[in-house]
Amino acid sequence: MTKPFAGDFTLQEGLDDSAIAAATRVLKSGRLHRYNTAPGELSEAAQLEQAYAQYQGAHYCLACASGGYAMTIALRASGLEPGEVVLTNGFTLAPVPGAIAAAGGKPLLVEITDNLVIDLDDLERKAKQSGARYLLLSNMRGHLVDMERLSGIVQRHGLILIEDCAHTMGAAWNGRKSGNFGLAGCFSTQTYKHLNSGEGGLLTSDDAEFMARAIILSGSYMLYQRHGATPSADVFERDPARDPQHVRTHGQSARRDPAAAAVAAGRQYRTLERPLPGG
Ligand SMILES: Cc1ncc(COP(=O)(O)O)c(C=O)c1O
Repeated sequence: MTKPFAGDFTLQEGLDDSAIAAATRVLKSGRLHRYNTAPGELSEAAQLEQAYAQYQGAHYCLACASGGYAMTIALRASGLEPGEVVLTNGFTLAPVPGAIAAAGGKPLLVEITDNLVIDLDDLERKAKQSGARYLLLSNMRGHLVDMERLSGIVQRHGLILIEDCAHTMGAAWNGRKSGNFGLAGCFSTQTYKHLNSGEGGLLTSDDAEFMARAIILSGSYMLYQRHGATPSADVFERDPARDPQHVRTHGQSARRDPAAAAVAAGRQYRTLERPLPGG
């Protein structure tokens, strides 16, 4: 039995010394942009990508400006077409349908159950009726739906699954971490979330082509080799998303700021490296 959380969601704990020291190092260096690194140096943003990919058990990780940006980038990088329908839970937070709209899509809301999770019968029905290619699943308030049943629906209807794990970082279904069930997992390190860096997002995936496009579209100026958990250079070099015209029309300035990344990384060692209950 794990102990219920007894803290205050709006009065965060202070940051530990390693986080403060790492953020101070960045501030003292004056190199406040993630690509502004000294020769041989790996930015704090890139170190966070490495650490989070390892924690999540994902091949690749992109640290970006917010959880909302992580979702928008994921939709764009996976080839969402203008006006295309994206299935998503009716009970979620505004940044979720907002990310769909920002990526040029059209949210189609799926009902939820009394347990606050997506209603799988309604999902199956709406997937069938709409012929949608996408499901942006928002795992709300720490609750996971039966992910095995959901995966069956995803497979039957050929859906591209992107998980919004802003509320389920570290949660697992039968030992598989939330965020690892589909193409991509999107996380937030905004101050009220599990990792607190003020603002920030993380996008994880095992798909090299997808992650190369995501990194390009996050505002990387083709400096993808300065990322921490990234596909090899040849994946970027053959990706049509490198085309300047595509970057101009689909790219965003969603880079992760290294001082906040330092804070998130510092806290990660303290909080996330504790074993997860039951996993
Ligand atoms: C369920 C959910 N998804 C996504 C987000 C977006 O995260 P961010 O604030 O980092 O953009 C939030 C933020 O509160 C959220 O609660």
